[in-house]
Amino acid sequence: MVMEVVIEKKEEKKEKKRKVAWGITGSGDRLVETVEIMKQIKKQYQNEVDIIVYLSKAGDQVVKYYRLADDLKENFDRVWVEINPNSPFLAGQLQLGKFEFLLIAPATSNTVAKISMGIADSLLCNAAIMGLKAFVPFYIMPSDYEEGMIVTKLPNGRDMKLRIRKEDVEHVKKLAGMEDVFILEKPEEIHQVFKKRFNPEEGQ
Ligand SMILES: Cc1cc2nc3c(=O)[nH]c(=O)nc-3n(C[C@H](O)[C@H](O)[C@H](O)COP(=O)(O)O)c2cc1C
Repeated sequence: MVMEVVIEKKEEKKEKKRKVAWGITGSGDRLVETVEIMKQIKKQYQNEVDIIVYLSKAGDQVVKYYRLADDLKENFDRVWVEINPNSPFLAGQLQLGKFEFLLIAPATSNTVAKISMGIADSLLCNAAIMGLKAFVPFYIMPSDYEEGMIVTKLPNGRDMKLRIRKEDVEHVKKLAGMEDVFILEKPEEIHQVFKKRFNPEEGQ
């Protein structure tokens, strides 16, 4: 009898958890930092929030290059990999209101450009665009945020200098002007998003 009550309580708690879809694209830039923040947030909000991870095909590949695949699997119960734009059917789940919001971090210049142009031919681009049609908030942290030079870390730990092109930044600006789209500049800002959504007093 007592056991039953305990199990019921556990189930209740599980049901009450709100869900967030966290997409990872094939961006090596700030990937390591982002996964670190993901783990901190998962721990901090473990009673309130269920984070479900979705990797683009390139995301899956790049996560392996950076040796983060096991880390993700060990820390998150569900890690889905893109098969096609509608499989897994994240777009449908977003439209049905199963998630509080979609976050893509880090986001490649490819994914940013496609979403800004309304091209829904990959899992995460489709999810973002279809979710926006159903008023689902969308947060995105583009790898190519500001014009100029950046130094990024290669999978072997070496630094590489890259130019952020104005064409890629223009796509970010176009996204920033869209309703329900929120641009994040750096991984640390993701903490603020969760605070605002799940700890309203602290997130002001
Ligand atoms: C090791 C590695 C690191 C990469 N890093 C980046 C990056 O930081 N930013 C970017 O825009 N593309 C990067 N790419 C290229 C993308 O993975 C590629 O454009 C891919 O088509 C993106 O697909 P997706 O947007 O569906 O994930 C990287 C590729 C590899 C193999």
